[in-house]
Amino acid sequence: MNRTDWISLEKKVTEWIRDAGNKLRRSLSGSLDVHTKSAHNDLVTNMDKEIEQFLVRRIHKYYPGHQIISEEGFGDKPTDTEGILWLVDPIDGTINFVKQKCFFAISIGIYENGKGKAAYIYDVMNDGLFHCISGSGAYLNNKRLSPLKPVKVEDALIDLSSTWIKPNKRIDQDVLTDILLKCSGTRAYGAASIELAYVAAGLINAYFTMRLSPWDYGAGLILIHEVGGQTTRADGLPIDILSKSSILAAAPGLHQDMVRHIRSQVASGKFLREP
Ligand code: IPD
Ligand code: CA
Ligand code: CA
Repeated sequence: MNRTDWISLEKKVTEWIRDAGNKLRRSLSGSLDVHTKSAHNDLVTNMDKEIEQFLVRRIHKYYPGHQIISEEGFGDKPTDTEGILWLVDPIDGTINFVKQKCFFAISIGIYENGKGKAAYIYDVMNDGLFHCISGSGAYLNNKRLSPLKPVKVEDALIDLSSTWIKPNKRIDQDVLTDILLKCSGTRAYGAASIELAYVAAGLINAYFTMRLSPWDYGAGLILIHEVGGQTTRADGLPIDILSKSSILAAAPGLHQDMVRHIRSQVASGKFLREP
């Protein structure tokens, strides 16, 4: 697609996302239909499904040749990254949506032949739309985000879930200890797309997790690249956007320091397993 096509797409997506956001805000004053999926803390609501259907129908209507990977199963099942691929999470942070009624987002990342082209992360209750068309700058609503500057570990706010510092099957619980003792502080917000958008906005300096799906990270990666941040798997290797993956997203400098540290821990015998 050319630049004019992307601008016209942005106009549509922004409208759909704002409509979907209104539906979500309204739904919070009624009663939600909540079910568990793979585990007691893996929730899905009627609204996850409704919003995904709403978005998928529109994408299929206006862009019938495009492919969609989405969480609740209303999208397609692409096996490669050829053409245009949408990575859609109708509600990222469903636990927050159900329990806190805030801090959840609609996340849409769009790739052309495997390259990130456009990203939309709508923090619904803050009415904050993080967005970009690759090469044209990243924005929070109308405010352009500044390019990320190098950050030292000592000055960094690092976002990670407590899962990765207690016994678990994906990463030795001690791999990050030295970094976490040294850094300025840790944070965890429970909505990966917003956490990635916060890295892009410079509000936090790194986001680390051992397991996300393409719909969780698709948009966030594009936004972070647009402002000069770096994203890889935990071991520093490239992310395959069709797969579940660990994600290490950080400001320049900090990303290299964290990868170097993790690699040296693995070289000394600590384990790291991709999902
Ligand atoms: C989840 C959130 C959470 C992350 C989980 C995701 P969901 O997405 O992004 O922060 O830690 O791995 O599955 O299920 O609320 O869309
Ligand atoms: Ca998600
Ligand atoms: Ca979701």
